[in-house]
Amino acid sequence: MKKHVLKTAIEVYASEKELSSEDQKLIKKAKQALKKSYSPYSNFKVGAAILLKNGKMMSGANQENASYPLCLCAERVTIAAADSVHPKVPILAMAITAKSASITIIKPVAPCGACRQVIFETEMKHDTPMRILLQGETGKVYVIAGGRDLLPLSFDGSLL
Ligand code: THU
Repeated sequence: MKKHVLKTAIEVYASEKELSSEDQKLIKKAKQALKKSYSPYSNFKVGAAILLKNGKMMSGANQENASYPLCLCAERVTIAAADSVHPKVPILAMAITAKSASITIIKPVAPCGACRQVIFETEMKHDTPMRILLQGETGKVYVIAGGRDLLPLSFDGSLL
C-alpha cells in the first residue's frame, strides 16, 4: 500500500490592500457584480469577476429560479458569459465574493463543487490555470493558483 497526500496551497492576505492593483480591481468588480444577483429565494448574493488574457474583465452574479434546482451560480454564469463572448480567450483569474441578507460575511466564500468542476474544465479547455481570489464582504483574501487545486483527484474528459 502506498499513501498519496494531496496538498492545496492557499495564499492568505490580511485584506485586499495587500494585493496587486489588478487583483484589487478584480475583487472590486466582483463586489460591484453583487447588484446583478437575482436571489429572492436565498437572499444570498454571489458576485464573480473574470480577468481574460486580452486584459478585459467581465462579471456576473447568481441567478435564481422559483424552481430551485435551476438556480445558477455566479461562477458558472460568468464563465459561460466570458466563453460565449470570447470563446478563444483564456481566463487568467476569477474573483468571487458574497453578501447575505442575514449576516455580514467576514471570511472568504469558496465555490461549490459543481463550479469547481466547471472551473477545472475551463482551465483544461484553454490550457491555462485560472487563479481564484476569494473574499467575503471584508476581511482576509485567499488566493489559489488554479481551479485544479480546489478539485484534487478530478474527473475529466480524457476517458470519454
Ligand atoms: N451560489 C453561487 O452563486 N456560487 C457558489 O459557488 C455557491 C452558491 C449561489 C447559488 C444560490 O443562488 C445561492 O448562492 C445560495 O446557495
